[in-house]
This record gives sequence, structure tokens and C-alpha cells, in this order.
Amino acid sequence: MIFGAIVAGGIGTRMSISDIPKQFMMLGNKPIIIHTIEKFILCTKLDYIFVGVHKDWTAYMENLLDKYSLDRNKVFIAEGGKDRNSTIFNIISAIEKTHGESTDHIIVTHDCVRPFVSIRIINENIDCALKYGACNTAIHSVDTIVVSEDGDSISDIPDRRRMFLGQTPQSFNMSELKKLYSELTEEEKNILTDACKIFYLRNKPVKIVAGDISNIKITTVSDYKMAQAIVGGKLFD
Ligand code: CTP
Repeated sequence: MIFGAIVAGGIGTRMSISDIPKQFMMLGNKPIIIHTIEKFILCTKLDYIFVGVHKDWTAYMENLLDKYSLDRNKVFIAEGGKDRNSTIFNIISAIEKTHGESTDHIIVTHDCVRPFVSIRIINENIDCALKYGACNTAIHSVDTIVVSEDGDSISDIPDRRRMFLGQTPQSFNMSELKKLYSELTEEEKNILTDACKIFYLRNKPVKIVAGDISNIKITTVSDYKMAQAIVGGKLFD
């Protein structure tokens, strides 16, 4: 089966203008996270969609699903974890409790704060994960990337043509992801912020799916302003 795993366990500390986690802020006429879940619902290749939400906000999320009439036979809530990867693994546990373990399960993990993801990107993630076992959505870097070891002066300027910017979804064969993660040391688990790196660290191929510049992650106030401009929404009530 093919599962969407929308990670929403964060509380948005860098979004300084909001008292609620940024994924619940209004974007146009509905919360950011509802836009994101609706994109996943539109993708007919997905059997079920799990949303990993911080435990203090699961009741709030339940209400939103009802308020915006999302299909409760398709969308389920799991409890978020202490970091992004823990949220993914909590979702995997919830999936296995309800649908069992299988070496065929595919999981399409996505940041809840990337509401402009396209159906094309989700579909290509599914195809790529089925074929290769792991993939990451990414776009060519339009800017030159400079490397600084000390944060003060430049230590390298890699060839821009080899530089990509990672986005989500990141999609995986679920049992392979679990197996590779279980083989990591506790130290490796603690420093790993990126699920694709679990494959990369074990020399497993991670294919690139072409992302889109509009698939922005709403992290800061200026990202939020840009997102509101895209949907024609108001910045503040
Ligand atoms: N995330 C998660 N579980 C966590 C932390 C983050 O599922 N314990 C999710 C966020 O909800 C978000 C995605 O990971 O969808 C990317 O994280 P980021 O943009 O950094 O979100 P926050 O952690 O909420 O923001 P901040 O770092 O500003 O606190």
C-alpha cells in the first residue's frame, strides 16, 4: 500500500508572529495544514494519509479535519515525536498497527508547511520510491552555494551545476527505511535531521525527483508573507 505521512509535530519556533504552531495559521481561507492534506487527498495513488501532530495539538487537529470536512476514512492522526524523524517513525508505528507490516509498503513523507506541493511531484515520488526504494524531491540551486567551515570566511565554492536544494516529499520503501534506521547508532540517530541521509549513510541510492521553486517551506514570517501573496490572502486579521 502507499501511505502519505505528513509531518506536523513541530511548533514553529521561528515563526515569531504566531501563538499557534505555524501549520495552523490561516493561508487564504483555510489553515496551511489543510491545504497540504488536501493536496495529498487529490492524489489517488495514495491509499491512506497519516498526519503526525504534536500531542498537545491532536485534539485541535481532529477538530480541523471535521471543520474542513476531510475524509476521515482516508486521513488519520498519529502522535508527533521529539524531532522530525521520530514523528516519521511514530507514523510508521501507527500504519503498522492498522495495516500490518509489508515489504511492499511505500511511505511519502512531507512537511505540513509545504502546502504548494503539486500532484505531479507526489506521483513522481511514488513511482520513484516503488522503483528505487528511496527518493528526495530537489531543485537545482539558482544561487551559488558557498561553504564556510567557521561561519566567518568561505572555505569552498562548489560548482553550482552540482548543487541542489532539498525539498519534500521524501519517499521510501517503509520496511527498508525502518531496517536501516534500526541499524544506526544512538549517536547517528541524534544527529540525523534528514530521513534521506539514513539511506545515504548506508550507501543506498537516493534518487532525485524534480521539485518546484513554488514548493516553498513556510518557516519564517517572510515565507508566510510570500505564501499569502500566492493565494491572495490577508497577512494579518
Ligand atoms: N516536525 C515534526 N516533528 C518535530 C519537529 C518538526 O513533525 N518534532 C515537522 C514540522 O512540523 C514541519 C517539518 O518537520 O512540518 C519541518 O520542520 P520545521 O519547518 O523546522 O518546523 P518546526 O520544527 O515547527 O519549526 P521551527 O524549527 O521554527 O521550530
